Order: sequence, then C-alpha cells, then structure tokens
Amino acid sequence: MFPITAERPADAAQIETLLDLTFGSDRAKKTVYRLREGVAHLRPLAFVVREQDIRASGGRLLGSIRYWPVGLGEAQSPAIMLGPVAVHPDYQGQGIGRALIRHSLYAATRLGHRICILVGDKPYYEPFGFTSAADRGLEMPGWVERERFQVMELLPGALDGVAGMVGKPLRSASPRGRRRAA
Ligand SMILES: CC(C)(COP(=O)(O)OP(=O)(O)OC[C@H]1O[C@@H](n2cnc3c(N)ncnc32)[C@H](O)[C@@H]1OP(=O)(O)O)[C@@H](O)C(=O)NCCC(=O)NCCS
Repeated sequence: MFPITAERPADAAQIETLLDLTFGSDRAKKTVYRLREGVAHLRPLAFVVREQDIRASGGRLLGSIRYWPVGLGEAQSPAIMLGPVAVHPDYQGQGIGRALIRHSLYAATRLGHRICILVGDKPYYEPFGFTSAADRGLEMPGWVERERFQVMELLPGALDGVAGMVGKPLRSASPRGRRRAA
C-alpha cells in the first residue's frame, strides 16, 4: 500500500528527475508540452507517492501525477489534460500508477471538472473509461497518433456539443465560478 499525498512545491525538483528518468530528457519535444508551456499545472490535482519509510530512504519520490487546464474547440470549453503520470522504474507494476490515476480522477470529479483528455497508451487508460477523442470530434495540435488521443466525461453529457482543436485555456482553470475571458 502506497499512500498518496498532495504534491508540495518542494517536490518539484524530484518530479523533474523522475520525469527525465521515465520519459527521457527530450520529453519537452512532445506535443502536449506545447499546451503546457506558460500554463501552471492544477495544484489541487497534483499528487505524489513517496517511499513509506522516510528514515531509511529520505522519502524518495516513487510516483507523480499532474494535470493541466486546456480548452476544447472554438468555445474553448474547459477541460483537464491528464499527465504526466510517472512511476519510478524500480516500483512499476505494483499499482502505483493506477492508484494515482484513480485518486486524481476522483478528486477532479469532486472539484467539478467535467472533461478529461490525455495522450497515452490506449490499453493502459481504457479501463479507467477513456475512449477515442478523435471519435468524439476532438483534434490535437501537432502530430499525435490518433489512438493515443483519448477523452473521458467526468460528468455524463459534458462532451455534448463539444468538438474541435485542443488549445490552451481561455477561462479560469477553476471549475467553479468560471468567468468568461474578455
Ligand atoms: C505507465 C506507468 C505510469 C504505469 O504505472 P505503474 O505503477 O507501473 O502501473 P500499475 O502498476 O498501476 O499497472 C500495471 C499494469 O499496467 C500495465 N501497463 C503499464 N504500462 C503500460 C502501458 N504503457 N501500456 C499498457 N499497459 C501498461 C502493466 O502491464 C500492468 O498490467 P497488469 O496489471 O495486467 O500486469 C509507469 O509504468 C511509468 O511511469 N511508465 C513510464 C512513463 C510513461 O510511459 N507514462 C505514461 C504512460 S502513457
């Protein structure tokens, strides 16, 4: 059992190291990074897993998940983009990734987020309820393999009438009390 805790500002350096280790140091070339540039990740949806016995290890970071706000289509309908999610190679396959995803999607739903997109391996994300985003009329800037681009409604019907290109968010990232962009 690996406890999940909220990411702290002090975790940032260890998270960068973990992401370099799991995705490679050229990860910033990926299309999703264009959508993250200049946009802060959603703090209430950022979680980590640490080694349990901090006396033995100094509390090594074992896993991390973050989300970014995005806008969908011409109306830039608010949505969240899952990722990156990463688990230290020594600890992969022990359920940490799934636990981080379930925990954060539950938090996102409770906070009132309505739509979640991601670019990732279909077989891994399908069991959570993600389906083809292209089939729902969504598009991703740059070149992304169609089957890796996925979407899930956190609120049933949230995708009704929503289609088009994913972009940076125009409105407040907060799901409640949103104001229209000027
Ligand atoms: C992908 C990742 C986050 C999964 O975390 P994890 O803690 O290792 O995964 P879990 O223990 O929760 O789940 C393991 C299961 O997922 C499967 N799985 C892991 N990565 C997968 C992938 N990319 N595609 C399909 N299935 C995958 C495993 O085969 C295993 O299946 P099983 O339960 O049937 O044996 C982790 O392996 C990782 O950090 N990988 C490198 C970074 C990365 O690719 N992240 C994004 C994935 S798109």
